Amino acid sequence: MKAVARAPGKIILTGEHFVVYGSFAVASSINLYVTVTAEFHKEPYIVSEDLGVKEPIDQTSHVLRPIAISIAPLIKGEKVMLKIKSDIPLSAGLGSSAAVSVAAVKAIDELLELKMESEEIYEAAMRGERLIHGKPSGIDVAISLFGGFLLFKKGYRKQICLGKNMEFMLCNTGLRRSTGQMIKRVASFASKNYKLFSKMVEVASIISVNLVRYLGRGEMERIGYLMNMNHEMLRMIGASNSILDRIVYGSRPLCFGSKLTGAGGGGCTIHLIKRERAKDLNSFLSKTCYKSIFVKAGVEGVKSWKIRN
Ligand code: MEV
Repeated sequence: MKAVARAPGKIILTGEHFVVYGSFAVASSINLYVTVTAEFHKEPYIVSEDLGVKEPIDQTSHVLRPIAISIAPLIKGEKVMLKIKSDIPLSAGLGSSAAVSVAAVKAIDELLELKMESEEIYEAAMRGERLIHGKPSGIDVAISLFGGFLLFKKGYRKQICLGKNMEFMLCNTGLRRSTGQMIKRVASFASKNYKLFSKMVEVASIISVNLVRYLGRGEMERIGYLMNMNHEMLRMIGASNSILDRIVYGSRPLCFGSKLTGAGGGGCTIHLIKRERAKDLNSFLSKTCYKSIFVKAGVEGVKSWKIRN
């Protein structure tokens, strides 16, 4: 018997970085997934097909250790093998590490029939995230676990109902960077500009709360405007760079709104599609990006099931 869990990646529409300091943020799940298969096995290994790594659960290197840390207290001496497969690009701001931890915990829950509550899965996945990113807000884990569109703040989350369907293009710069390093860079800005930064956290919160209202009414122009505004704030705190800016500003006439998403410093930008300009946007992004793709937003959160041999 095998247990399989599939967890989605994410985009952040507003509030990244500021959410670490207590602001509200808005995120959506996307249809790029991590799949983890768990089975009883005499060799307790974690295998990542994409990274070409196979390591014993109790002797993992830094690459697989976050997963081992997330699941170790759950397996209690059982011999299990985990196989990980991901179509979420790594270090690109799309929540790949959170999705791996969420899927790994959920696969173990399914295999060992632990019947874990969502909050327990969240806490277990956060152990891995803390090891990688230092002090993450938890938004990446929450969106991978619950799916949909979420208004999130530390210790708080609420699903958002959309007034209109929304479509996004995603542009991957191909520049990989570490979320932990970007969090540190912002921490340094925050400590040097304490008063300014606290005001910015308040503004980021207002942007996210207003965004929820516009999402509910399907007011695309206003949603795009808030995404654009959020990009400016991320630039001010050092999360953007000239490559991201070129993509974001170049695409503005072709979409409702565009911004970097996630930790920044590289990774991805997101673009809220305007139907009548979708072809032009697509051709601009395919020329400018390492890889551009259309993503479906607001998909279901983590799911698991059993396969009987
Ligand atoms: C990373 O996807 C989002 C950040 O705000 C970090 C976090 O919230 O943990 C940059």
